[in-house]
Amino acid sequence: MKVLMTYDMYREGFTELFERYDVTVPNKRDFTYEEVCGMISSYDVLCSMFNFPVDKKLIDNAPKLRLIANYAVGYNNIDVAYALEKGVAVANTPDPVIAPTANLALGLMIDAARRITECDRKIRHLRKNMKISVLGNMGSQITGKTLGIFGMGRIGKALCKRAKACGMDVIYHNRRQLTLEEETKLNVTYVSFDDLLAQSDFISVNAPYSSQTHHIFDEKAFKAMKSSAILINTARGPLIDEYALVNSLKNNVIRAAGLDVFEFNDFPVDELFELENVVLTPHIGTQTKESRYEMAKAVSDNVIGFIEGDRKVSFVTGI
Ligand code: GLV
Repeated sequence: MKVLMTYDMYREGFTELFERYDVTVPNKRDFTYEEVCGMISSYDVLCSMFNFPVDKKLIDNAPKLRLIANYAVGYNNIDVAYALEKGVAVANTPDPVIAPTANLALGLMIDAARRITECDRKIRHLRKNMKISVLGNMGSQITGKTLGIFGMGRIGKALCKRAKACGMDVIYHNRRQLTLEEETKLNVTYVSFDDLLAQSDFISVNAPYSSQTHHIFDEKAFKAMKSSAILINTARGPLIDEYALVNSLKNNVIRAAGLDVFEFNDFPVDELFELENVVLTPHIGTQTKESRYEMAKAVSDNVIGFIEGDRKVSFVTGI
């Protein structure tokens, strides 16, 4: 069985995979798309990173391919419909990403609301000249506020529990409404997208990216939000129209944002660097030693389970 990995990450999480099969891994770098297209024809399994495009051309170059095992919960980098049509299964790693991503979303909410990194920049820059002002660094409280969660899957639910522990009310919008039992357990209320925009003090984006969610947060959406609202995105960049967000942040249409993902190649547009009311992190949602190890194990288990049938595989069944 031949396995090709597009990345070299957390080898200790892949020990079992390396012991069982013939695995090709780049050495301390990523394989390029062109390199993978050139090699893939003799491989049975492809282990891809979330930013590696697995498109029609690559799949067409892979007559032996049976499984694409993505190192991520999100799989918008893969042409899933085409893979499935060609009889190639797709798997992802939902469980290990839940806690770290929900924790980061909460962290960005608190940071943006209390202006933590803004104050950090200020105090480093001004040092002794910084006036310890009683009013100059006024933030806002998360306790007692309404969090609107867009996308109530596993990460949305984990964030909901954390927000509740901080004394927030939670409303949500999702493709499908949760069951009454789930809503009661989480103590959340389903609302329309328009109501989510109008009623939330904080909005956290936790939905998958697809053609249906492209730019769902656009100029019109920002105008429908409270001018005191804070927007958090730890999902995928293109759910937000980033230039429209820059304008909204500049013109006080909304108060602030906390962004871990970005529209263009996951790198912020220059204008965002100039704004104080935005917290930026470079797609670190799952970047903890613990979760990166667990994600590697999950990819490894997906591949072994698919081949041997001896353990559960997290299959992606559609888009
Ligand atoms: C990370 O972005 C993931 O989708 O797991």
